[in-house]
Amino acid sequence: MQEKSKKSLSKSESNSRADRPVLEEYIRQLRKEYSGDILDENSVERNPYQEFIKWLEHAVKSGVQDPHAMVLATASPDGVPSARVVLLREYDNDGFIFFTNYGSRKATEALKNPRASILFFWREMDRQIRIEGRIEKVDPVISDRYFESRPKDSQIAAWASNQSELIRDREELEKKFAGFEGRFLNVPVPRPENWGGLRLRPERFEFWQGRPGRLHDRIVYALEDDGSWRIFRLAP
Ligand SMILES: Cc1cc2nc3c(=O)[nH]c(=O)nc-3n(C[C@H](O)[C@H](O)[C@H](O)COP(=O)(O)O)c2cc1C
Repeated sequence: MQEKSKKSLSKSESNSRADRPVLEEYIRQLRKEYSGDILDENSVERNPYQEFIKWLEHAVKSGVQDPHAMVLATASPDGVPSARVVLLREYDNDGFIFFTNYGSRKATEALKNPRASILFFWREMDRQIRIEGRIEKVDPVISDRYFESRPKDSQIAAWASNQSELIRDREELEKKFAGFEGRFLNVPVPRPENWGGLRLRPERFEFWQGRPGRLHDRIVYALEDDGSWRIFRLAP
């Protein structure tokens, strides 16, 4: 678990362009020895959702920062990938739900090409979970329920931001926000139709546990045609 650095990087070193080799040298010599628990294909849960919940609980109890933050990768219909962080808000045996603007780049891509992946990285535990599957819109009832639970500012921001669209400057955004703030001054903010949940319905999970000497454990669950999960190990 020890972060071994031969040399630390001072502020002045990190700033200028000429110092780039120093920065490169710094990241090159970062070496971490992983020491996580054994992850074994014979003792993991038979159901990957249960294994996920065990890991998430462990992450929360271990004080992992933003344990619900995950990298979502989508691709355009012609295969151009893009990735960004979103927050996991709900999960069940059908999949993993996050909320976003349906006109955003991620949603536009996912609704045209549903194949996507999410990734959790919990550095404090030397753990990574990769989940691949297909994205679908959730039932509007789920989106309404979650939207109602958000702070009012966040609700208004959903109206003010046409996420991923070009805007002239910050002022334009703030003016739009102020406009909607006035419109919804003393009334509940309704959910914009173009804002809601997307669910990733998994077809494959991979649980990665960092282990000493780079001999990490990787356990995969692959969904079979009959709905069962095949469990196997991959070389690290
Ligand atoms: C910690 C963190 C959490 C985020 N959570 C969300 C989220 O839940 N939903 C969302 O739409 N964007 C979220 N974002 C912003 C996205 O990363 C991204 O900038 C935005 O959704 C636009 O992406 P797109 O243009 O690829 O659609 C989050 C960013 C960070 C750094």
